[in-house]
Amino acid sequence: MAQTAPNSSPSLTPPESVRRASTFAAELEQDKQARSRAKSVKPLRRIMPFVLNYPGTIALFLIFMVLAAMLSLSIGWAMKLIVDCGFGGSGELPAECERFALGNAANMGSYFKLGIAVAFFTAVFSALRFYYVSVLGQRVIADLRKAVYNHLTTLSTSFFERVHTGEVQSRLTTDTMLIETVIGSSISFALRTIVTSIGALVLMFFISWKLTLMVISIGPFLILIGIVFGRRVQRLSRSSQDNLATASVRAGESLGAIQTVQAFTREVKEREDFGRATEATFDAHRSRILVRSVMTFVLFGFGMAGMVGVFWYGAELVQTGDLSGGDIVGFSYYAFAAVSGVGFLTNTYTDFLRAAGATERIMELLSETSDIIAPEKPEVIGVARGEIRFDDVSFSYPTRPEQQALHGVGFDIKPGETIALVGPSGAGKTTVFQLLLRFYDVNSGAVKIDGHDVRALAPENLRRQFSIVQQNTPLFSGTAMENIRYGRDGASDDDVIAAAKSAFAHDFISALPQGYNTDLGEAAASLSGGQRQRIAIARAILRDAPVLLLDEATSALDSESEIAVQSAFENLSKSKTTLVIAHRLSTVRKADRIIVLDQGRIVETGTHDSLAKTGGLYARLSEMQFGIQ
Ligand SMILES: Nc1ncnc2c1ncn2[C@@H]1O[C@H](COP(=O)(O)OP(=O)(O)OP(=O)(O)O)[C@@H](O)[C@H]1O
Ligand SMILES: [Mg+2]
Repeated sequence: MAQTAPNSSPSLTPPESVRRASTFAAELEQDKQARSRAKSVKPLRRIMPFVLNYPGTIALFLIFMVLAAMLSLSIGWAMKLIVDCGFGGSGELPAECERFALGNAANMGSYFKLGIAVAFFTAVFSALRFYYVSVLGQRVIADLRKAVYNHLTTLSTSFFERVHTGEVQSRLTTDTMLIETVIGSSISFALRTIVTSIGALVLMFFISWKLTLMVISIGPFLILIGIVFGRRVQRLSRSSQDNLATASVRAGESLGAIQTVQAFTREVKEREDFGRATEATFDAHRSRILVRSVMTFVLFGFGMAGMVGVFWYGAELVQTGDLSGGDIVGFSYYAFAAVSGVGFLTNTYTDFLRAAGATERIMELLSETSDIIAPEKPEVIGVARGEIRFDDVSFSYPTRPEQQALHGVGFDIKPGETIALVGPSGAGKTTVFQLLLRFYDVNSGAVKIDGHDVRALAPENLRRQFSIVQQNTPLFSGTAMENIRYGRDGASDDDVIAAAKSAFAHDFISALPQGYNTDLGEAAASLSGGQRQRIAIARAILRDAPVLLLDEATSALDSESEIAVQSAFENLSKSKTTLVIAHRLSTVRKADRIIVLDQGRIVETGTHDSLAKTGGLYARLSEMQFGIQ
């Protein structure tokens, strides 16, 4: 789903349930795309490096697969022998019965014991084959998921603006699952079927080449029918899935925003919309079922009639003495194995195409590169003094290149100073912070900290210098304790509680059902905007970095807690450089300097008193908020 816009105010943050629902909707929407297939199976080759990491497992799988296939083929031959030698009556026995000494009843027992042993080993080998190939599939998927996730965490903001997070998530889950199906089962199935079918064909030729040629000649017709109808079924099932996805997305949205639906009394309209989409799904399904039924009729009719024809001819060959009864039994066993194998293979092929599509999408993610390029030989700062400089910075967001968010912005901040950024909504205040953290690179000019261009530092080194309270700080699933500790890994419980106390968060956290151990992932919906904000503040206080960035950090607090939190910030910021963004000017009155931005330009700079006197934008804003001064 789209990210929450960075410049919407925290009080407008939708409740958790709505966001969860719309994520769900986005996932479904993306699942629809995830179903799209590649044109060929070629992209699957790019998974090979991940698979070839496990040559041992592959070898074991292949060995057990071939063993199991050989044993299962031997059953057909055994059936042939049983009929020819065991039930062949007292007439003359074929020569091979002598060899197996099966003609006499006393040996029947040992023959069947051998049969049981064969069955047992077939089972063992099949189980081992299944084990190794399934583990291989899961192993490869785990590696692939980690590779994708690790890569994603290196990508810059602009990537996540371009690609919806829902899409990214479904690549991480749905697409990897599609590939897993292929590696963990379809490949195994296909290989096994190919090996068995080839083996069966060879043995069929051995029994009767005439009958075999007849069976083979039916094959192409069956395949043709399968392809013609299969295409149509696929198209129809795609359209029914599309309809279903549309209906579900809509349902997810309305249920997530049920208050809006009911407040505007739109229930009937919503029901009608959902009903229509559901009926469309049903219609598409019915057409698909109809086509499938016709296909079944044609396939079965043709296939069965063909096979009966083959056996008719076979029966004649038995009568002329060209074949034995056992030959016919063995032959049918193999013919069934070969024909059904080919039928199943055509089904598996779609799995392969689907997985190839998934591979393309995953590889596309893996080949994304970050716009924020780390320097090869980065300059290093330990703990910054906190001197900040914007040098004639111009910038436009990559998604909106025609609109300049900042024009020639320049200012200097000395270590330890507290600077306020004020200005109307959309003036470019948050943008200043984003450039400081180097989430984007400037178009021209430079952003510097302690004299180092931010582009000359490793991004982690740069970002470690900042504690930030964002305009919209997300909470993570996990306890209140963990959420605050996010600011500084390894901070002690006491440090966390101290930070929470300074952020005025201690009292309400203690009042939560499990206090600091309450899971905020679930509770976030029940936290008020101000409570969430105080957790974010505690997180930033705990981080204790040399530069403090506060973006509307206290906007959702009541005046009393705001004053208290502000004094906490004042204590904290004594030794730190602090940049404060605030619409409430009472928050910024004490700043050493106030920078007034309007439409991406600095329009005024000065203290509260000096700016109030000049009668510019700040004076106007402050007049509105405080009344005539
Ligand atoms: N990610 C983005 N992609 C494209 N344009 C953006 C993005 N973020 C902000 N903008 C645009 O850049 C301009 C400056 O936005 P910015 O967020 O810096 O404003 P702001 O001064 O922080 O406003 P507010 O007080 O409402 O938070 C706005 O016109 C905004 O629409
Ligand atoms: Mg902002």
